[in-house]
Amino acid sequence: MGNTSRGRKLEAEELSVLLLAVESTNEGFVTIDKDHKVLFFNRAAERLFGYSREEVIGKDLDIVLTPRCSGDHRRAVERYLKARRPKPIGHAKELTASRKDGTTFPCSISFSVARRKGKVFFTGIVRDLTHTKALQEQIARAERLATLGQTVAEISHEIRNPMVVIGGFVRQLSKIIEDPKAVTKLEIMASEVRRVEDLLLELRDLYLPRTLKKRTFDLAKLLEEVHALARQAGRGKNIRLSLETGSGPAFVRGDREKLKQVFFNLVKNGIEAVSEEGEVAIRSTVRGDRILVTIGDDGPGIPEEQASKVFSPFFTTKKEGTGLGLCICKRIVDEHKDCSMELTSESGRGTIVEIRLPLRKPPAHRGRPGEGTRPSARTGEKR
Ligand SMILES: Nc1ncnc2c1ncn2[C@@H]1O[C@H](COP(=O)(O)OP(=O)(O)OP(=O)(O)O)[C@@H](O)[C@H]1O
Ligand SMILES: [Mg+2]
Repeated sequence: MGNTSRGRKLEAEELSVLLLAVESTNEGFVTIDKDHKVLFFNRAAERLFGYSREEVIGKDLDIVLTPRCSGDHRRAVERYLKARRPKPIGHAKELTASRKDGTTFPCSISFSVARRKGKVFFTGIVRDLTHTKALQEQIARAERLATLGQTVAEISHEIRNPMVVIGGFVRQLSKIIEDPKAVTKLEIMASEVRRVEDLLLELRDLYLPRTLKKRTFDLAKLLEEVHALARQAGRGKNIRLSLETGSGPAFVRGDREKLKQVFFNLVKNGIEAVSEEGEVAIRSTVRGDRILVTIGDDGPGIPEEQASKVFSPFFTTKKEGTGLGLCICKRIVDEHKDCSMELTSESGRGTIVEIRLPLRKPPAHRGRPGEGTRPSARTGEKR
């Protein structure tokens, strides 16, 4: 007798531990009886399906199933009750479930059957596969891109070689030919050939896997160089191009040349966006252990319907654009772990790109004493 009551106590304890475990797991537990009525709906199931247990318990399971799934499920239960040898029971099955708000999500469900006092209970353990599916899709996409990238890199290489030869001969001819009309034509040919060469170089850059040449450097100094380059690019236009960096140097670690390419591409986009007149501002500020660089312009902004496309290769709205600028920027930023880039644009008001990088200690040997203690840079001018 004593033993039995101890046994019962133990059983009750085990049960409550088990119940707590089932309540705190990430998998949805849904138990139904032979009539398809819901008896148990744990907290994860509430989260997954968006129903409270009060809304579901005692109701037909159909409430949380898509119509197709509901039919399949009902048939599986009936099959089991008839044959006692169900097909899907005990196996995990992938299907699409629907939430209360009508949205659907991919999930895997494994089924189990329990019998008690002559009654049969079916439990489905539901796992949300949204994240897993997204990862699988990402991997498949990366694999597809890697294959495509290799092909593009090889083709670019093959086209670039004859282009270099053509460009060289055209330039030679333009020096020896005297007819000015012919010289003009040859110069146009030379500049077009250079455009194709540049495009092929960018393609190679975009698709070939690279290793970054990382080092620690002063980002404020690099932004000054970008500013100087941008002044060249905006020459002849009425663009106010300003640079504001905080006081003193700000060291970061990364591939200096590649990051310069990122900032220059973004500033160039700003200059091209404001077209003939407007403002492009490069700013850097230290925020805790990170540095925030913003490149903003008061150009026309990006229309909402184009916003999702601007990072795709070859998307361009410019007559002479390749549509590779932002795509290359994103790739370089992604290759720098801990570095992020965010573009915000409002149609009619302008665009701002924010880049965040972790700050580093200055390198141990950074040359002459006093180097790196530049005053803050703050320049702006109309050109
Ligand atoms: N600052 C900006 N303001 C408005 N539109 C922008 C801005 N930056 C990018 N865009 C839009 O995004 C498109 C893609 O930009 P991206 O830099 O990738 O290519 P591109 O500038 O067209 O060509 P490339 O950079 O190769 O010369 C642009 O054509 C433009 O429509
Ligand atoms: Mg661009």
